[in-house]
Amino acid sequence: MTKPLTKDDYTPGGVTLHHDPDRLRRVTRALRAAGRNIALVPTMGALHEGHRKLIREAHVLQNTVVVVSIFVNPTQFGPNEDFERYPRTLEADVEVCREERVGLVFAPGVEDMYPAGGQVTVAPGPLGEQLEGATRPGHFAGVLTVVAKLLNIVQPNYALFGEKDYQQLTLIRRMVRDLNLPVDVVGVPTVREADGLALSSRNRYLSEDERAAATALSAALVAGAHVSGQGADAVLKAARDTLAAVPEVDLDYLELRAPDLGPAPENGDGRLLVAARVGTTRLIDNAPVLLGAGDE
Ligand code: PAF
Repeated sequence: MTKPLTKDDYTPGGVTLHHDPDRLRRVTRALRAAGRNIALVPTMGALHEGHRKLIREAHVLQNTVVVVSIFVNPTQFGPNEDFERYPRTLEADVEVCREERVGLVFAPGVEDMYPAGGQVTVAPGPLGEQLEGATRPGHFAGVLTVVAKLLNIVQPNYALFGEKDYQQLTLIRRMVRDLNLPVDVVGVPTVREADGLALSSRNRYLSEDERAAATALSAALVAGAHVSGQGADAVLKAARDTLAAVPEVDLDYLELRAPDLGPAPENGDGRLLVAARVGTTRLIDNAPVLLGAGDE
């Protein structure tokens, strides 16, 4: 039987912080039993405008209580990546959630999420080894496993993810379909600074010069999209030339794919994806392109 909620579990109009997965599951179950929809916004914290946009989109969905999870998931970081130095700003994040009328914040510790170590994982399949997965082995197994766990804990009607991590979004959609998970995945367009830089918690690692150089990524996507009517080769050349003009940008990959990240079509919708290192910071970005649709 669903236990009645107390003010310590959930306060309408306020934000309640939870750490314990079982308790949170009881709260979201009771809210669903009371006729509310649950919208989950999974994050690793250090919340910025991009996360605010996800939360705002969650509020647009009907009759929802918004749950934001904040968990820097160790299993998606490689041994030489930034797990230790990844920003952890829980107090400020809860304040952002309060401002954005989030109902529940779920901020578990590593021991709450992986009490037994976590030997069983979700295998992302071939797409998990391409693009980001080629440079970050094991990354997407870590992401999909923690997202599956969060979905099982929160049991939301909706889960919202940014298009900024386009391969992540694509693999999560695929996992939900392949494993018959009962949730609607909602993708939300990337939020950008005025100069085009895609918002990311990792932007704070950039020095002033690196920050300026980093705009080459979004500029390359714009340059590529601008000649999309001329086909794939023209798109890739324009984007590559833009990146090559900025020596601080150490390109990892620039690829044109279909929207589901299969091979790009000759005509029609495509997705242009870029990853590069600027200083010690690895950045990614992507944009839609309409291939062969005109003769610009
Ligand atoms: O995009 C992120 O912030 C993370 O990869 C996610 C989806 C919260 C899983 O840890």
